[in-house]
Amino acid sequence: MKRFLYAVSLALSLVGCSVDHHSASSSVDARVENLLSQMSLEEKLGQLNQLSAMNNIEDMAKQIREGRVGSILNEVDPGRINALQRIAKDESRLGIPILMSRDVIHGFKTIAPIPLGQAASFDLEAVEAAARIAAIEATADGIRWTFSPMIDIARDARWGRIAEGYGEDTYLTSQMGAATIRGYQGSDLSDPTSMAACAKHFCGYGASEGGRDYNTANITPRQLLDVYLPPFQMAAEAGAATYMTSFNEIDGVPSTANAYLLKSMLRDAWHSDAMVVTDWASSAEMLAHGNTADRADVAAKSINAGVDMEMVAETFIQNIPQLLKEGRVKMSTVDNAVRNVLRLKFRLGLFDNPFVDENKNVAYSPEFIEKTLKLTTESAILLKNDNSTLPLKSNVKTIALVGPMADAAYEQSGTWTFDGEPSHTVTPLQALQALDGVKVLYEPALTHCRDAKAAGIASAVAKAKQADVIVCVVGEEAIMSGEAHCLADINLYGKQKDLVEALSKTGKPLVTVIMAGRPLTIAKQVEESDALLYMFHPGTTGGTALANLLFGKDVPSGKTPVTFPYMVGQVPIYYNHKNTGRPAAGTELLIDQTPVGAGQTSLGCSSYWLDAGFGPLFPFGFGLSYTTFEYSNLQIDKQVLSKADTLHVSFELANTGNYDATEICQLYVRDLVGSVTRPVKELKGFKRVSLKAGEKSKVEFDLPIASLAFTTLDMKHEVEPGDFKLWVAANSDEISNETSFSVE
Ligand code: NOJ
Repeated sequence: MKRFLYAVSLALSLVGCSVDHHSASSSVDARVENLLSQMSLEEKLGQLNQLSAMNNIEDMAKQIREGRVGSILNEVDPGRINALQRIAKDESRLGIPILMSRDVIHGFKTIAPIPLGQAASFDLEAVEAAARIAAIEATADGIRWTFSPMIDIARDARWGRIAEGYGEDTYLTSQMGAATIRGYQGSDLSDPTSMAACAKHFCGYGASEGGRDYNTANITPRQLLDVYLPPFQMAAEAGAATYMTSFNEIDGVPSTANAYLLKSMLRDAWHSDAMVVTDWASSAEMLAHGNTADRADVAAKSINAGVDMEMVAETFIQNIPQLLKEGRVKMSTVDNAVRNVLRLKFRLGLFDNPFVDENKNVAYSPEFIEKTLKLTTESAILLKNDNSTLPLKSNVKTIALVGPMADAAYEQSGTWTFDGEPSHTVTPLQALQALDGVKVLYEPALTHCRDAKAAGIASAVAKAKQADVIVCVVGEEAIMSGEAHCLADINLYGKQKDLVEALSKTGKPLVTVIMAGRPLTIAKQVEESDALLYMFHPGTTGGTALANLLFGKDVPSGKTPVTFPYMVGQVPIYYNHKNTGRPAAGTELLIDQTPVGAGQTSLGCSSYWLDAGFGPLFPFGFGLSYTTFEYSNLQIDKQVLSKADTLHVSFELANTGNYDATEICQLYVRDLVGSVTRPVKELKGFKRVSLKAGEKSKVEFDLPIASLAFTTLDMKHEVEPGDFKLWVAANSDEISNETSFSVE
């Protein structure tokens, strides 16, 4: 209401004044009001309409001339973009530029690791830099708005879109999302290399039941507030220019009609003036959801809930004139939506210059490749390294390079890479072949990851027998994760399992490398391998990063941003679960130890799986190095704190091995007793610390006590007095460096 009154008074104050929306020296709000006051209803609704690019440019041009288009998605040809902007500027009545948009998810031309891989780096600067590169490359082609970052918390690896986000943890996702937004948007949206970010999918999409895409999300109000919404709040704080409503419903309300999210949270609680777009036809899809009767109802429920722009569905443009007549939609609601769209266009500087230099080529610059390589290297997680198999020693002269992902440029880039050209991607084969003094015996064995023909395995084994070491690169093709690509079985597909097994039987050292869009259930392959590197889908520089890591030019530092289950039946599985009334002790009888004919009792039973036990294959935050690190001397500056205090935490980290390396130190807290039950652990801080071999350093964290707030029994966001445990650790499972404090 306050916002509405503000808008009205602003509008009134501008009536009769001489602001011209063409004048760059006037304030953005004044230019918006000036322009709005000149617009017909049709032109207003045109601004709320996003078109999907059409092959025939004249089909788009016609609608632009008529003022029926606010934004276009997926037009990427700079020549055509300039032509369309010229039509908008010179041939539409008010000359309003078009907001050109695209899914630039983990790079435009230079492809960074998938976001899940980026999260494994825990490197906010490198992630911000990757988004900056994406923005520079995409804006050079005329794209000023990307539908990224995806900051959905995902705790179910069956969901194909787990690839697109930053994993299972609210804190890590919030930090990663904000870094990405900073990278896309730069310090000033009007800089021609700035690209508006889109915080998506608002909200709860990652909780799709059963890990099946587009499915209902069952989220309690408290979980929504404590787990799923904080990354979106942080996005607002980082200045996210836009938000996208999610496909799913929560408690019967599809997000596109959810005024609690779009108004109470976004506008009232977080004071964001971001523009809200629907997901692709998610407004019209409410007909299938069953909360709307017809397309007019769809338009009314969406715009009244707080949607500003509709992606492709066109229910606004078709129905709002009549809805206004019937009083089901108010003109002020339409005006506010238009304001949100125009404000963004002014902020982006589109009115002042909507055109791009068609002859400028910035893609794949050496600087971009170097920065992307750094992030890609940091995204690799060493999950096993028995007998110091890695790094490969100088006596390794012949490598058997095996597997369907060893030379699959397109596949290693992962989901959502419409614009990156595979010809620029360095595969493991290319990178290893470029090394001096190493002979590579290459045998893919399988044509692709789902290849079910075992015929090639014998020749891979033959090559392996002639080599000093086997490097086997397996995983998932790009199409096996991402939107609508969910799996009920998250193991290696095709004959990849047989391939790894056959190679392990050769007795040669086996280094398995996995490139995938999700954490896979790889317990058997871990056992069969001497070393295992998990790279997710690493993108353009994946092969180079791998070669550098294999030979110790770089040392792995990545840590798991999601929990790796033993078996798919364990999902959803995540480190910051609740304790239950019967927590597992780790001593439970497994199915093989259970006597035949055993009598039933529930006495002394606990919460675990008979076949999988309780814990995961790899916990959240886990990753090895070629060196070893020791944590010691944990100190806190106060034992008893007030809610306004900040706790100072320090400890010593020593690099006790033989390699200069980086450790991702993690800070976890447990609130022991709450008015409602609290997670067994929560990540509250992380730091990348680089130490030379033998070096020791003091590491410090400041923990604001306010960051321990949660949604209490009476739904207040508060810190409750009481006792807390605190750990500094190399992963979420480790508890050796523990202390405690209390809050009064
Ligand atoms: C549907 C996806 O859910 C969304 O993430 C994407 O940005 C839009 N399509 C546009 O392609």
